[in-house]
Amino acid sequence: MIKLSSDPSIEIHDMTVSYNRKPVLWGVDISLPKNQIISIVGPNGAGKSTLLKSIMGLIEIDSGYIKIFDKSLNEIRHKVSYVPQRESVDWDFPASVYDIVMMGRYQYMGLFRRASKKDKEIVLDSMEKLSIASLKNRQISQLSGGQQQRVFLARALAQQADIYFMDEPFSAIDISTENAIIELFKEMVKLNKTIIVVHHDIYSVKNYFDWTVMLNMRIIASGPTNQVLNAENFKETYGSHLNILTEVSNIVKKERIPIREKKLYKKKK
Ligand SMILES: Nc1ncnc2c1ncn2[C@@H]1O[C@H](COP(=O)(O)OP(=O)(O)OP(=O)(O)O)[C@@H](O)[C@H]1O
Ligand SMILES: [Mg+2]
Repeated sequence: MIKLSSDPSIEIHDMTVSYNRKPVLWGVDISLPKNQIISIVGPNGAGKSTLLKSIMGLIEIDSGYIKIFDKSLNEIRHKVSYVPQRESVDWDFPASVYDIVMMGRYQYMGLFRRASKKDKEIVLDSMEKLSIASLKNRQISQLSGGQQQRVFLARALAQQADIYFMDEPFSAIDISTENAIIELFKEMVKLNKTIIVVHHDIYSVKNYFDWTVMLNMRIIASGPTNQVLNAENFKETYGSHLNILTEVSNIVKKERIPIREKKLYKKKK
């Protein structure tokens, strides 16, 4: 089921994306609602990060178009915030927690990037919301994985965007922090924000997200979470991988038999 939203935050039409001419996403046709917490789920390699990177203009798309609040990315870039997947960030970059969160304010500053009183207040408030204010002078390379992740979320928050794209924001984060961040997302939605999250834990999708996109190189389903999370869609999204696993284990089993037979034969000798 692919449900369209009548007043979309994101609209993608007939999009195909490739790496080295090999398509990894094709025929993507979705429109996502505003003011909701939305998840994108699918197995490893399904193209979830590629989808976000395409929306953020970090990868050139082969065909189709993407609109954000009915505009092109360039027209609306300052309203859009993106938190990349943890593995793709250079954590040795020499900067303090405060510096990184302040980067969220750069778009509001002039050429010389002088932070105003308001910028400083927002940075402090964002750090407090993610419980990292006490770490503000630490270098990011000296933080734990979960702390680093929270720094990036605080930077996104300081940006005061209208739409947030977050690639696996809960990786490396403990369950109580995860719950606190979900509460924060709910507060943000009340302030008319739209939050789109690539999420890995299929079991918590039902509790966290209003709308869910199921992806495996193409869109399997997109709609209200309780309508799309069913066995059929689940199988279509993850099934081929499960089948591959079964096939692999069958092959391994078959190969084991002659090995055992050889051993038995040797023993008899
Ligand atoms: N820079 C790249 N060059 C070539 N192939 C790539 C590149 N980045 C990703 N791919 C391939 O594109 C496909 C989709 O990758 P992508 O990172 O979007 O998946 P994902 O759903 O985010 O996976 P994960 O859950 O592991 O983060 C994969 O097959 C991947 O190997
Ligand atoms: Mg990814």
